[in-house]
This record gives sequence, structure tokens and C-alpha cells, in this order.
Amino acid sequence: MFSSSTIAVPKTDKVPRHVAIIMDGNGRWARNRFLPRVAGHRRGLEAVRTTVRGCAEAGVGYLTLFAFSSENWRRPEEEVSFLMELFVVALRQEVARLHENNIRLKVIGDRSGLEARLVELITQGERKTAGNTGLTLTIAADYGGRWDILQAVNKMISEHPDKQGCYSEGDLAPFLALSYAPEPDLFIRTGGEQRISNFLLWQLAYTEFLFTDELWPDFNSKSLARAFSSYRSRERRFGRTSEQVTDMQRQVESKTPTR
Ligand code: IPE
Ligand code: IPE
Ligand code: MG
Repeated sequence: MFSSSTIAVPKTDKVPRHVAIIMDGNGRWARNRFLPRVAGHRRGLEAVRTTVRGCAEAGVGYLTLFAFSSENWRRPEEEVSFLMELFVVALRQEVARLHENNIRLKVIGDRSGLEARLVELITQGERKTAGNTGLTLTIAADYGGRWDILQAVNKMISEHPDKQGCYSEGDLAPFLALSYAPEPDLFIRTGGEQRISNFLLWQLAYTEFLFTDELWPDFNSKSLARAFSSYRSRERRFGRTSEQVTDMQRQVESKTPTR
């Protein structure tokens, strides 16, 4: 699937087709309760379940969650091991449920640094759910936006060595980690920081951003509804003027038969 917001104005809807989330604030949630940081990660998993359910119910097609960045390896060893273990446990517990709910699981990121048993569970989970037609849930693990662009560029060059100096977006697109999904419509970052932290650098070109102070373990169905409501109120111009957007909407509405 190749659709690029910088090449053609994408079709948009009241409900975002693709939501991408930086799930931040687990450590602070735990610290506020005098608990170890890892307790926040454990609670964060509950917020993941709620968000997956909420997105599936709202008719979102793709949900992409940032679980572990290429830079998160810099954290204390015990925290990194806990996060990897939590990922293993989550895959063992949740894949069957995802499958029952017709959810397709995908994992993006550099698998070369992940433990073999984790890679095995990821492969199994992806294989089991590959034919599902509901929400596509993507977990970004050991993912970095720069890693993504570089690995795509390297693959593109080795695939088309003849095209030197003449590569297009269309040549690169199939090699990007999220090549199967449209670009995100809505980006949410919890935890109060207003930065991308090397998440989807290429794919967020025209995404609507929402930063909230809420900490990830507190993020619930109401928070999701608020995010959707904020999204609905935005005017997505993709470089055009507001007048052009309004005219286009009028044309579409006049063609839609009323009951
Ligand atoms: C996000 O929460 C989870 C991961 C990065 C894995 P944090 O662990 O970054 O929580 P804070 O930012 O320290 O509160
Ligand atoms: C971003 O959160 C990565 C994930 C949520 C997985 P961080 O907590 O690692 O981001 P920084 O370090 O504050 O930018
Ligand atoms: Mg953080």
C-alpha cells in the first residue's frame, strides 16, 4: 500500500484511521505512589488493553504503540530486563485474546538485539493473527525513527542499484517498517513531554499531534474519547488554505445523498 501525504492529499475521516501513541510516564506514575518504576510499567499494560479495546470499538484501523525505543537500552539493566520480561509475559497472555477479537498483531523495530525466545513469540504471534481483518495493532520495540529510515534506504539501494540519484518516495515506501499502514492521523504522547523521542520520524509528516500531561497508566477510555474529540475538531489542510478545504467539503457534502 503506497499513500503519501506529501504526494497526494489523503482521504480523512472523523475517526482517525491510524493512531500512534508514545506511552510515557510509567516511572513517574510509580514514583508518585512510592512504588518501584517497574510497577508503573506493569500498570501501563492495563492501559494498553483499554486503548486497544477502545480503538477497535471506535473503528480505528491501525494502532501503533511505542513500547521500547532504540535509546531505552541506556536505562538501568534491571529495568531493561524487566521490560523485556513484561513483553514476553504480555505476548504469552494476550495473543490468544487478540486473535479472538480479530486483531492483527505486528511488531516493528530492530529484532537483532532482542532475546531469541522473545523473537520466537513475536514471530508466532504475528503468524497466528496474520489473517485477521479487524484492528492492526503494531508494537514498536527496539524501534527508532532514524533506524527505520536508514534500514529502508539500505534495502531500497540494494533492491534498485540502477536508480542511483533518482529514488522517489514510492521506491522507499515498501521498505519502511510501517509500509502496510497509512500514515498516522493522530499522534498522542502522554506524560507531559512535548517531543518525538525518535518515534516515527518519516511517517508523522502531516499527523495531528496531541500532548497530554496524563501519565500512561492513568490513560483510559475517557482519555481516548477526549483525544478523538480533539482530533475531530482539527482542520487538516495538508498545505492548502482553509477556504480550499471548506470548498472541498461542500462539494463532497453536495454529492452525498441525504435520507
Ligand atoms: C514509558 O514510561 C515506558 C518506556 C519508555 C518503556 P517511562 O518509563 O519513560 O516513564 P517516565 O517518563 O520515567 O515517567
Ligand atoms: C519514549 O519515552 C519511548 C517510549 C515510550 C517507549 P522515553 O521516556 O524513553 O523518552 P525520553 O527519554 O523522555 O525522550
Ligand atoms: Mg519517559
